[in-house]
Amino acid sequence: MTSASSESVAVSAALVVFGATGDLAHRKLYPALASLAERGKLPRRLVVVGVSRTLMSDEDFATEVRNSIAKASNGDAEGRQNVLDQRGAQYHYIAGSFDADDTFRRLGEVLAACDAQYGTSGNALYYFATIPQLFGPVAAGLGRAGLADESEGHFRRIVVEKPFGRDLQSSRQLDAQLHEYFREHQIYRIDHYLAKETVQNILALRFTNTIFEPIWNRRYVDHVQITVAEDLGVEHRGTFYEQSGALRDILQNHLLQVLALTAMEPPASFDANAIRDEKVKALRSVRPLDSAELGRVVVRGQYTRGEIGGIEVPGYREEEGVSPQSNVETYLALELDVDNWRWAGVPFYVRTGKRLPHRVTEVALRYKQVPFLPLPSSAVDSVEPNTMVMHIQPDEGITLEFAAKVPGASFRVRGVALDFRYRLAFAEQPPEAYERVLGDAFLGDATLFIRGDEVDQAWRIVQPLIDAFDAGTVPLSFYPAGSWGPKEADDLLAQSYGDTWRAP
Ligand code: BG6
Repeated sequence: MTSASSESVAVSAALVVFGATGDLAHRKLYPALASLAERGKLPRRLVVVGVSRTLMSDEDFATEVRNSIAKASNGDAEGRQNVLDQRGAQYHYIAGSFDADDTFRRLGEVLAACDAQYGTSGNALYYFATIPQLFGPVAAGLGRAGLADESEGHFRRIVVEKPFGRDLQSSRQLDAQLHEYFREHQIYRIDHYLAKETVQNILALRFTNTIFEPIWNRRYVDHVQITVAEDLGVEHRGTFYEQSGALRDILQNHLLQVLALTAMEPPASFDANAIRDEKVKALRSVRPLDSAELGRVVVRGQYTRGEIGGIEVPGYREEEGVSPQSNVETYLALELDVDNWRWAGVPFYVRTGKRLPHRVTEVALRYKQVPFLPLPSSAVDSVEPNTMVMHIQPDEGITLEFAAKVPGASFRVRGVALDFRYRLAFAEQPPEAYERVLGDAFLGDATLFIRGDEVDQAWRIVQPLIDAFDAGTVPLSFYPAGSWGPKEADDLLAQSYGDTWRAP
């Protein structure tokens, strides 16, 4: 997943941040620019253009960028805050509304002046760090002002944050709005999970080794478990989360992306489109959820007051910005089937939740039991089926669990594990997700971004759930904060499958 280009330095360009004074820009984007600068990966000349409603001078904007870099620094705040200036970065700021053509006309003037003064040559990366409702209007404003045009050989790219739409229909509408002025190769849809080293390592593990691929299919794998667990609650994002729930916040994007990488066929190359073609095929193979079956294959939960790490935490309905009667799910578990030659008959059990005991994301392939065990059961101590676990985060790594003989005169076996840990094998610190995302977008490497047809397939998979949740046909269960989710989620595996969730 590292194209040859990701080792080079991007050509001079302007980074235009819509929502320049917002939380995302401050917490993620400006610090990511500083990290890129430190690694020598900034475009040769960089102009940062902030666009937002707040009135501010260019110099005030530059100070805001420096301050957020300093704030995000681990230790050397003073040394780090000027790292962009040392690399010759320039700052401009435009105060204006995102639905006024005048804002985009002024932006055009600023960009033209930067081309002349700093040699940015018309290259621009437009980062949509705004609320999602503004993605369409901003793209249209850019288009009407002629700022989407690449006909003179420069690049004009838009980087779009999640959520991409609220359902299948609104996602298609947004896609049509973006495509009115931008072509698919100009659109970079973010899923920050794809920028995680260990998510990319799923491809390295599967397709650059001989030993795993032959056992990565229905002949050997019994079922797959994917867990995205967080100990955090909704924090200060209650109002947002009320509109989103675990379904839109994690399942539709991060979780299905991890599933696609786990289930996909080998790509012809590690080129962006070759990989994305295979991911789309995998998502397309996910069997449409049958509304009559949802009661059996889906569990929705919401956390109540509980304890995490010895600290008492409020229930979801007590969180700021959340309705005291809210029926929004903070936990989801479901069974998905992938109908193709590789996976037919191998269920994928996926779960995600907030306020679970600890933060962990992992993919576990549970292998089939041996056809016959030539030992009495009394000689077998706690042997689980062979399991391959890809630890996405934290403590990134891979574990292979199998049985071994317990030393001694009698023949007894017990479960043991082979463990690979990134932090022990590699000295380098991987880039933070947003650093990677921005760096790749400057370079034009779309591998870690989601193509339009992928988003469409992901919404197709979750749309029956949206409809059923809206209609209130899938009951909400409750779980105390600090537990592993509602009891019904254990029943899901036990009843349909006679197995249990792995303890991550
Ligand atoms: C975001 C969700 O996309 O991903 C958050 O909106 C969630 O609710 C976050 O906490 C999890 O990301 P990470 O990188 O911490 O696993």
